[in-house]
Amino acid sequence: MNPKDLKHMHFGKDLLGIKELNVDQIQYIIDIASSMKVLIKAPNKKSPHLQGKSIITLFYENSTRTRMSFELAAKYMSGTAANISVSSSSVAKGETLIDTGKTLDMMGTDIIIIRHGCAGAPKLLADNVKASVLNAGDGMHEHPTQALLDAYTIYEKRGGFKDLKVAITGDIKHSRVARSNIYALTKLGAKVFLAAPGTLIPPAIEETGAVIASSVDEAITDADVVMGLRIQKERQKSALFPNIREYAKFYGIGEEKLKLAKSDVLLMHPGPVNRGTELTSAIVDGAKSVINDQVMNGVAIRMALLYIFTRGDRYENID
Ligand code: CP
Repeated sequence: MNPKDLKHMHFGKDLLGIKELNVDQIQYIIDIASSMKVLIKAPNKKSPHLQGKSIITLFYENSTRTRMSFELAAKYMSGTAANISVSSSSVAKGETLIDTGKTLDMMGTDIIIIRHGCAGAPKLLADNVKASVLNAGDGMHEHPTQALLDAYTIYEKRGGFKDLKVAITGDIKHSRVARSNIYALTKLGAKVFLAAPGTLIPPAIEETGAVIASSVDEAITDADVVMGLRIQKERQKSALFPNIREYAKFYGIGEEKLKLAKSDVLLMHPGPVNRGTELTSAIVDGAKSVINDQVMNGVAIRMALLYIFTRGDRYENID
């Protein structure tokens, strides 16, 4: 299917979070991604969708999957893609985020993809540049493109979301992936259960509609999807559990725990995985794991987003 055959859908200038998207927009992005995916497997990975468009990745935090999939997505679609290495750019000389953004604007940039350690940094940038800004993860706030690729992976395998039981386990407090997935999956009709030590559950998270399970076993039992999350040591200011071995014993998932879920459960993880901590190697590499599908779908989702956010008709009142 050609993406142009899909019905028209309006988006804003920027993609800052899942919270701002409605169900139709999420489904539209998934449908476009599914029409783009064929290109990733093609011997000649080149389409003209981004011809003449300029895409910059501006990452203030480390990344393998998100940055590389955006850059490959841009290149597969004939866009011009460049990366700013923050450590060797003028940011290291004290240039502000807004000045960096305005500089990129003057170079003719169409899309800036930003990852930043501070929640709200993509919004600050978006409010001060003409380019579209796509949030590639901001602090503990949101990681919308990860949630979209996760939703696409579930949709591809299950054909829908209604009443699916999704268990999210691990460091929920520090996880922008968890927050964006909770917003996306509850909107789409899934029932989301969270399991983590009390110190790793964020306050008022039940207001999103997610349920805090009393144990990992309760969250996983009869689950259609189990999503493990990485322990984010870089964001933990104090010891929030006694040690990794004890965490792995009580909150890690292995073959025995996974048997509590439905027999056709999808095992997911946004990556990078701490093997042996949140998930054992046996299940990461096992038959129920769709972690590799998530990686491929990440390129397709980012192709869809670059296509949507470089389209001249993407939003009303374009100036
Ligand atoms: N899932 C994710 O954001 O991975 P990276 O940090 O490698 O981009």
